Amino acid sequence: MPIIPPSPADHEADFVTDSALGIDHATAPDDTRAEDLQAALACLDDAALFISGHDAEDRYREDWSGGRGCPLAVLRPRTPQHVALAIAAVGSLRLPVAIQGGMTGLVGACVPQPGEVVLSLERLNQIEEIDETNQTMTVQAGVKLQEAQEAAAARGLLFPIDIGSKGSCHVGGIIATNAGGNRVLRYGMTRQSVLGLEVVLPDGQIVTNLNKATKDNAGYDLKHLFIGSEGTLGVITRAVFALQPLPRSTQTAIVSVQDFSQVVALLRHCRHRLGPKLTSFEVMWRDFYDIVTRELSIGRPAFPVLGTHLVLVEAMGQDPDVDDEAFANVLGDFLADVPHTDAVLATSIAEASAFWAVREASGEAAAAVKPYAAFDVSLPIASMENWVNRIHGQLDQLGVTRTQTYGHLGDGNLHLVAGYPQDRPELKLQICDLVHRSIGELGGSVSAEHGIGITKKPYLGLSRNPEEIALMQAIKRAIDPHQLLNRNRVFDLP
Ligand code: LAC
Ligand code: ZN
Repeated sequence: MPIIPPSPADHEADFVTDSALGIDHATAPDDTRAEDLQAALACLDDAALFISGHDAEDRYREDWSGGRGCPLAVLRPRTPQHVALAIAAVGSLRLPVAIQGGMTGLVGACVPQPGEVVLSLERLNQIEEIDETNQTMTVQAGVKLQEAQEAAAARGLLFPIDIGSKGSCHVGGIIATNAGGNRVLRYGMTRQSVLGLEVVLPDGQIVTNLNKATKDNAGYDLKHLFIGSEGTLGVITRAVFALQPLPRSTQTAIVSVQDFSQVVALLRHCRHRLGPKLTSFEVMWRDFYDIVTRELSIGRPAFPVLGTHLVLVEAMGQDPDVDDEAFANVLGDFLADVPHTDAVLATSIAEASAFWAVREASGEAAAAVKPYAAFDVSLPIASMENWVNRIHGQLDQLGVTRTQTYGHLGDGNLHLVAGYPQDRPELKLQICDLVHRSIGELGGSVSAEHGIGITKKPYLGLSRNPEEIALMQAIKRAIDPHQLLNRNRVFDLP
């Protein structure tokens, strides 16, 4: 069946009608529309492409934000060409699309909203090429991050992005959200490692630029429009990543300090003495560290007497003969200079993994204080101590029962989890308003790495001015005039 391009007028009418009638697609997928879609895609001759909304498994309905929806249907194309044809088909039927990767997002962007068709990239799961000369990997969107990391390592190369959800998240998703994670200090956010990109536009066109060179100033660098756009402008189908040399040595330590000024002193010391070898500087306040090590029994307290903050420091180098000793000396000099500090160096890979297990237990830790509100903010390091102390006090007054505070301090990025009593659901909004407003006043970001999605939309204006938001909306209108892709994520269009 030929695929007919969408008509703008019909499209608008369609959505006005749906919302005016108050049809709740979340509980009642519209079977007629789903059947039309299935018929439009029959020409692709792929039995695994289409799943009806009724048959969609939970993994297409919910993400790690806790949000849940019900899709009209799920489409699982297995090539970029089929993605393009699927997008053209949903466009011709004027159906909105929720784009899905590994479903590890924390802001609800991938949860199908009423009437939305899910487009899952899970079958685009091929690593197409590892080019050892250019140090690049060409990869399809649905490859899991950990698979990309392992494939690079098998060729003596490092896939530079590392986040806690690596076993589930997809490389397409980390590009769409410009994911950060644990090694941003050294390798930057995802944006810094993407050299080339292929996207399918809302009108079904494929735009391919699988560039492998670091330098390419031929006109606008269009890939940056799509990186971090949270699926609102195009469907990422393939990408070229810059790889790095696989480090030949890794040093990991946990340092205990007695106050926040010592955390900052340690960061300066590590940056100065380790230079580019410093890969991670992860800080855990006791409200996080204690719940993980004592209540969840993940890892164990590394010191007989714990300081106020525990810092996981990681460095990577190319010279195993000298790196371990140099790292020990760097930390030894700090301990000698700064009173009442202590450190434990990992002496094996297992020990280093145990240190990381504590830091990466953020999901389990949050689950242990349900219900909670979770934050992912950035602010200048110089403002952090005052902000944390003040917000802890204010949250306590509001009725918050537990907090967890930790983050990627070198990037100015803090995570805060605030648990509140089950019988006071109204507190969540008050907590969110309080935290985000205080970040806005300091000129910080309400989303350092997780994005805006659905859940953080009310707060976008605290970190972006009206001119910036108007420009974002103008770009969305120009590229996706019918609002087909991830509609009403990041911002609503008036
Ligand atoms: C982390 C996630 C929550 O850093 O971003 O653990
Ligand atoms: Zn994080």
